[in-house]
Amino acid sequence: MAHFGTAMRVDKKGAIDLVTEIDLAVERGFRALIAERFPDHVVLGEEFSAAGELDAAPEYCWVFDPVDGTTNYAHGLPIFCSSLALEISGVPTVAAIYDPTRRELFTAERGQGAWLNGAPLRVSSAATLIDSLLCTGFPYTVQQDAQSLVGLFTEFLAVSRAVRRLGSAALDLAYVAAGRLDGFWEQSLHPWDMAAGALIVQEAGGRVTDLRDGPYSSRGRSILATNGHLHEAMVSVIEAHLRKG
Ligand code: IPD
Ligand code: CA
Ligand code: CA
Repeated sequence: MAHFGTAMRVDKKGAIDLVTEIDLAVERGFRALIAERFPDHVVLGEEFSAAGELDAAPEYCWVFDPVDGTTNYAHGLPIFCSSLALEISGVPTVAAIYDPTRRELFTAERGQGAWLNGAPLRVSSAATLIDSLLCTGFPYTVQQDAQSLVGLFTEFLAVSRAVRRLGSAALDLAYVAAGRLDGFWEQSLHPWDMAAGALIVQEAGGRVTDLRDGPYSSRGRSILATNGHLHEAMVSVIEAHLRKG
């Protein structure tokens, strides 16, 4: 927050994929903390992990996104967070997503529940798409696949109350857990975008699968997270869209 809205160094990882000096500093700080406290644990972080580390299966793996919503952060738009999950032998066990602009800390512990600043979280009860507020996001490769991605967005616009694109997948998931959103889908995500939010949604009573209703994994690339009631209806819209090609 100390640097939010100030001039900062912003580099490009791709044409529209930014990294600020704050992304790097926060991940460096987190890695130093884990190295000091738990020297045998692994950190899988967006900015410093090599591609090959995705396939490793360490006993203790902290899956960390220092800034989720970097584009918003770099533009001074206050929709971003840090996202952290601890996977023990591949099983997501605890999770935390912190939004410093609103001082909101979303947490979960496997089998114990999910909380917002300590108060229990529960997904919404919306039962039909037309009464639902949905959300999605687009990958940094959107320009190569805009037609299909926007096509699915259009399909959901036609059958829901509204569809949002907030720019932080981790917060989108936290908001499904909090009942602020009823469903969220996205393709081409990374473990650090989803690992914490998926556990928080599950522990708040929601349902998480991949886009085609197959088992969810933080190492898969897609996610569908809903309050449970909407899951089948959202899968039907997605499958119909994918069948069209
Ligand atoms: C991005 C955000 C965005 C999503 C992108 C992610 P980043 O993460 O979560 O909402 O649509 O797919 O890459 O780059 O801001 O950490
Ligand atoms: Ca991210
Ligand atoms: Ca990030």
